[in-house]
Amino acid sequence: MTFKFAAILSALCIPAMAGAAAPECAQSPGRVIRLCVSVQDNRATFEVSRLGKSVLAPSNLGLDFVGEPEAHYSAITSVDRRSSDSSWEQPWGEERTIRDQHSEMTVRLKGDTPTNSSVDVTFRLFDDGFGLRYGYTAIPAGREVAVSADRTSFHTLGDYQAWWYQGLGQERDEYLYTHTDARRITLAETPLTLKGANGLYLSFHEAALVDFPSMLLAGNGVGTLSAWLMPWPDGVLARKTGPFTTPWRTVLITDSAGALADSRIELNLNEPNRLGDVSWFKPGKFVGVWWEMHIDKSTWESGPRHGANTGNAEHYMDFAARYGFDGVLVEGWNQGWNGDWIANGDKFSFTEAYPDFDMAAVVAYGRRLGVKLIGHNETAGAVPNYEAQLEDALRMYENHGVSIVKTGYVRHSGDIIDQNGGREWFAGQYMVRHNLLVAQVAATHHIAIDAHEPVKDTGLRRTWPNMISREGARGQEYNAWGKPTNPPEHTVIIPFTRMLGGPMDFTPGIFDVAHGQQDVTRRVQSTVATQLAEYVVLYSPIAMAADLPENYEARLDAFQFIRDVPTDWETSKTLQGDIGEFIVVARLQRGGKDWFLGALTNENARKLTQPLSFLASDKQYEAQIYRDGPGADYRTNPQPLTIEHRIVTRKDSILIDMAAGGGTAIRFKCLD
Ligand code: NOJ
Ligand code: CA
Repeated sequence: MTFKFAAILSALCIPAMAGAAAPECAQSPGRVIRLCVSVQDNRATFEVSRLGKSVLAPSNLGLDFVGEPEAHYSAITSVDRRSSDSSWEQPWGEERTIRDQHSEMTVRLKGDTPTNSSVDVTFRLFDDGFGLRYGYTAIPAGREVAVSADRTSFHTLGDYQAWWYQGLGQERDEYLYTHTDARRITLAETPLTLKGANGLYLSFHEAALVDFPSMLLAGNGVGTLSAWLMPWPDGVLARKTGPFTTPWRTVLITDSAGALADSRIELNLNEPNRLGDVSWFKPGKFVGVWWEMHIDKSTWESGPRHGANTGNAEHYMDFAARYGFDGVLVEGWNQGWNGDWIANGDKFSFTEAYPDFDMAAVVAYGRRLGVKLIGHNETAGAVPNYEAQLEDALRMYENHGVSIVKTGYVRHSGDIIDQNGGREWFAGQYMVRHNLLVAQVAATHHIAIDAHEPVKDTGLRRTWPNMISREGARGQEYNAWGKPTNPPEHTVIIPFTRMLGGPMDFTPGIFDVAHGQQDVTRRVQSTVATQLAEYVVLYSPIAMAADLPENYEARLDAFQFIRDVPTDWETSKTLQGDIGEFIVVARLQRGGKDWFLGALTNENARKLTQPLSFLASDKQYEAQIYRDGPGADYRTNPQPLTIEHRIVTRKDSILIDMAAGGGTAIRFKCLD
């Protein structure tokens, strides 16, 4: 990680008069966002405007602690302002060089309880939003405190629509979004995205969620959203020892949906890389013994249809090598899948294979072909069982040369049993600690983690760049199970909601969208072109080609795009889009000259004109276009795909012509 240039432009300390009622204000570097903090009537509040128009009315600040009454604040006792403009480099990512230009204001509040007698609230302002966090730095070292309430609120003004789902559901974050008036929000997961009648887009989330419970937002029917932290089984929200700072609570404020997706606030509010050189992780693409089990062609459990047998794994290794893939994921290889594996998660072994799977042989086979095994540890949420084996499991994988492990936590939220028998939510402080522990132990073994059923992404990949991707939304697997599957709007909602947190392992690339199902709501609800476009739109440094090898070999023309598309980028731009409607994204290959474009629409066919001004000047490109073919429609005729090649420059525009539930994928191959 290199800091190209870091310049503290100003640092100013202004002690305010105790009890002064005048608000303390700060502006973002381009004077777009302005935020003021006041203490009045025993409350500490902040309010926010954008370009002179009010966005958040006075909104509460503060935490309360067990054994102390609700804190009243009487004064701002000091203010510290500074600003900074620096750039830093991601070892891998959607953009190589990230600019971090912000202004910062820390106010010290005086409260009337012991723990709140002195609390710092730091606001970091960017032109596209802000973050705030609490610093309880005056707590003596070693003293234990327990958070009983988070009073932070966000008081929105005017009419907003929201895309959200109920926050305490048993399937964690695997829900379809509902689209309602924002006042109907009861309890929502973040990132929570709102679109205003005033033309503004807001997205509420958090950054750097470390050793603290995950935050949901509770609505009050009139537009105020209040922090709601996932508790421990005894009702305590967070347990801390000694001085601490909270995660950042973040709000993106933009005038387009695309600007939400291109904001880098999430990463900028995380700490720099603590792992140093992570070149042992290479972004890439993989195939695997996976979809065949989800469509019940084979099984995770042992027996005559066991998917994870040595021969089948080697078959996928052959396929991967033939078409240039880096890895093969094998699920169901280890003891513990037989019977009700979700109920019996504490029986999983993470080191003992079923007799028909010879890991050493599979790894050796792959090594000869230049293909790596991708490991799999499904825990079924039996966390103590996994933690007890964690070191051995990851050491074993390291000894086999495995550098990526997919983890899983298939267990109802609220039913994850901790070592004391307590029933934990999937993203309370217990699971937040566990998710990071796994990544930290994995790093010592040079292993990167792709977590399924994870705690939501809050940008920790900056600090621990072996947290490469995660699930945390309804992915492609829901399109396999024959229950109502993901409607087309889903993949044009998540780029503006879930994916504002970070990369998603969505597992795109199903060509046999029907896979034997008649009813469109029981199969993949997309065209084939959509499946290709998802590789560009849904960013992940590792991307699965999820379908069966034979389905790719039947469509080698379409498969070429999956072979060509990179998973590591120099830069990324959301060119057009609106939440739940459509999106067009362009990305420049890292270390290369080719651009890739992905466009998706919802259930409506759509024609868009897209200028190609993002291409380099004075260069010609061969546009290799994969678009919906004549008569394509995700409901009735998902297969038609037209592939055409033509020469373009940045002066051209293209017509993106998408079928209902369709998409377009383009490689702009640089001809110089
Ligand atoms: C759910 C994961 O999301 C999926 O990818 C995996 O195949 C199953 N759990 C089994 O671990
Ligand atoms: Ca899942």
